[in-house]
Amino acid sequence: MVALTERTQKRLTMETSEIAPETTAIRSLDWDRDRFDIEFGLQNGTTYNSFLIRGEQTALVDTSHAKFRQQYLDTLAGLIDPAEIDYLIISHTEPDHSGLVKDMLELAPKVTVVGSKVAIQFLEDLVHSPFKRRIVKNGDKLDLGNGHELEFVIAPNLHWPDTSFSFDHKTSILFTCDAFGMHYCSDRTFDEDLAAIDEDFRYYYDCLMGPNARSVLSALKRMGELPEIGTIATGHGPLLRHHVEELTSRYRQWSQAQTKAETNVAVFYTSDYGYSDRLSQAIAHGITKTGVAVEMMDLKSADPQEVRELVDNAAGLVIGATPTSNPNAQAALSTILASAKPKQSIGLFESGGGDDESLYPLRNKFRELGLTEAFPAILIKETPNDATYQLCDEAGTDLGQWLSRDKAVKQMKSLDSDLDKALGRVSGGLYIITAQKGNVNGAMLASWVTQASFKPLGVTIAVAKDRAIESLMHTGDKFVLNVLEEGNYQALMKHFLKRFPPGADRFAGVKTQQANNGSPILTDALAYIECVVASRMELTDHYIIYAIIDAGRVSKSEALTAVHHRKVGNHY
Ligand code: FEO
Repeated sequence: MVALTERTQKRLTMETSEIAPETTAIRSLDWDRDRFDIEFGLQNGTTYNSFLIRGEQTALVDTSHAKFRQQYLDTLAGLIDPAEIDYLIISHTEPDHSGLVKDMLELAPKVTVVGSKVAIQFLEDLVHSPFKRRIVKNGDKLDLGNGHELEFVIAPNLHWPDTSFSFDHKTSILFTCDAFGMHYCSDRTFDEDLAAIDEDFRYYYDCLMGPNARSVLSALKRMGELPEIGTIATGHGPLLRHHVEELTSRYRQWSQAQTKAETNVAVFYTSDYGYSDRLSQAIAHGITKTGVAVEMMDLKSADPQEVRELVDNAAGLVIGATPTSNPNAQAALSTILASAKPKQSIGLFESGGGDDESLYPLRNKFRELGLTEAFPAILIKETPNDATYQLCDEAGTDLGQWLSRDKAVKQMKSLDSDLDKALGRVSGGLYIITAQKGNVNGAMLASWVTQASFKPLGVTIAVAKDRAIESLMHTGDKFVLNVLEEGNYQALMKHFLKRFPPGADRFAGVKTQQANNGSPILTDALAYIECVVASRMELTDHYIIYAIIDAGRVSKSEALTAVHHRKVGNHY
């Protein structure tokens, strides 16, 4: 066993605070949570929030991640004798919140577990021993006494199929777990500093909630039937108290924009406590980057009618063929096969399979039905890492771009006006952006680059939302701006304009050296500039990246920068 260093121990800390009468937040602070799921891409750590409500009876809302086992249980024991807890409310059964349910059942054998029907079903598979339970439906209430009447809101797919929220009528706190959360670790219990959490709040939405936009809108509608919500007690990051209206409005606005998309992809996964859901989420994230909407569905809890409707309305299908003996998942798969149509695109992945893949027979069936494969089947046998998630993200983008290709071509042709030609006279240089973060790299040919400030020296770069490299250009990320040389740029331009398969190394066959900031410098470029992203502004189809310059060098002082002359302004 590896001994924990002092630093590691210090970086998992606990914090408790009274957030309302008889209501304590128990926050497990994970300062250095490594990125091994896509939604941790911003690397600001996370927190796992649990809550203790003491009316005449006592309820614990969610627990914590198993990595906090001793710290969490000790903290809880400092607040109450766990055996005295009457109810354990399970918002959903993902291990980062229900990782200590088994421990709680041992410490509090008389506790009644409260959750949605699906959550209790999933918990049975997880716990493997009898426990007292109470299944709640939307609008059901649980009176803890002393005014603490809890009302349940069933909010499936936010982001697991078994999710429910609970609202305390005494304190006006809505406990939402994943929804409205963010992976952001700080000593602050609440959201007073909106600017500090803006980007994390959005990124988390994009990764976990955007692919379930329709479900977000349904949950918001149900939340609207509650009395005014004073606090949203999330399961990750700061609790929302100062900006509840603003942040819930953002969820509404973003989700409405998603559901307006003309094209839709159905993504099926298996909530198996493995990786199927996270891989499917990365693919979904990649799809939504292209403006194509996604609807996700768990095969284990899917209703056949809903599966049929989802497949009927989708232009593309993604299926995680995780080996499972679950009869519901098998039946859902049969329904998908029976409903799929030749004009649809298909993307397949498998995680957790042994040598005997179930993926290929499934792929053959879809081929026989005439569906087009949008990306090569993804087979994941090892624990996914950054590169795996990047591959899935890029595969999703390929699928989204394939489905929206006609629209893109139409858009290019439709604007051949005087205005468009005039805009075409706005020219830029030719540059290659290169970035390396962990074992993920990216590169992009760029022309919309301009100096933007003297003090500090800074540049702006416009990056289309469906570019793979955008995931490496969040605030704090580092990259290199390589300047191409007039008359000597064709080879580099040709290489980086290629369509790379998902997950491909962009630098294979290209001469590079490593910059101080870790990103590749293209040896054949005229100049390089090392940059760090200071801020990022979201536009309709591009992000504007403002980056501060750290260092730079020119290889030939007499040479000029290559210029990109265009005829029209409606595409690059
Ligand atoms: Fe934070 Fe869905 O677990």
